[in-house]
Amino acid sequence: MAALGAAALLPIHPSHASDVSSPADSMAMLNRLHPPRPDWYEEFYATAMNTSMKSYEAEIEGYKSELFANLRGQAKQILEIGIGTGPNLKYYAGEGGTSVYGVDPNRKMEKYAQAAAETAGLPAANFKFLHAVSESLPLHDASVDAVIGTLVLCSVADVNLTLQEVRRVLKPGGIYLFVEHVAAADGTALRFVQGLLDPLQQAVADGCHFTRKTGKNISEAGFTNVDSRQVVLSTASLINPHIIGIALN
Ligand SMILES: C[S@@+](CC[C@H](N)C(=O)[O-])C[C@H]1O[C@@H](n2cnc3c(N)ncnc32)[C@H](O)[C@@H]1O
Repeated sequence: MAALGAAALLPIHPSHASDVSSPADSMAMLNRLHPPRPDWYEEFYATAMNTSMKSYEAEIEGYKSELFANLRGQAKQILEIGIGTGPNLKYYAGEGGTSVYGVDPNRKMEKYAQAAAETAGLPAANFKFLHAVSESLPLHDASVDAVIGTLVLCSVADVNLTLQEVRRVLKPGGIYLFVEHVAAADGTALRFVQGLLDPLQQAVADGCHFTRKTGKNISEAGFTNVDSRQVVLSTASLINPHIIGIALN
């Protein structure tokens, strides 16, 4: 009964819904777009993300604090796509009454994300890790106040489909906050090296691309307003520049 009661509070598709994708559809999309990797590979990537991003996170802290301040008092239901180890939770999960859904296809991220949620002061009942891809979110239409994505559109199989899904689950007037690395300017030495090393990057970093022009995808996704700026981070090496911004649904 308690489980049924809790399930009723979650904006997750009921399996009988016909006009929207069901959890079964989401599972099919997960298997199609992000086929299961060997356990050791998922663990390797999750551990690497958990240990190797400290100096990057320290450098980007000021930008993230400013960005996530947009959520203050505004968002009760938050979805983070590609939540990974949960480095953003500390910026937005501490407010009373906030519920967070963290989507990620890598199950090995879950323990780190759960720990980050706990450290951020989010009650366990208010955090749900959803094993899924952002191209098929197992959430109802217009069910969340805000969507967050950092360093994820570089890795998804389909950027435009992800952005469509972000818009579908956001309430009208809801906000999408993003921090993404994008291709360097055409003709630069950095862009040349990114192109050269892109296949290697995809192999070692679970599908991450150096060369996506993600800002263009976001600005053409149909949001009513997109406000974005570009920054270069010294700790990010080849994954530069970054775009940091907010889009209004
Ligand atoms: C570079 S990591 C970034 C993780 C975290 N957002 C951060 O800022 O540290 C990329 C994340 O995207 C996840 N990912 C890959 N493909 C995805 C997809 N199709 N949908 C959602 N997440 C995906 C990966 O499993 C990984 O956790």
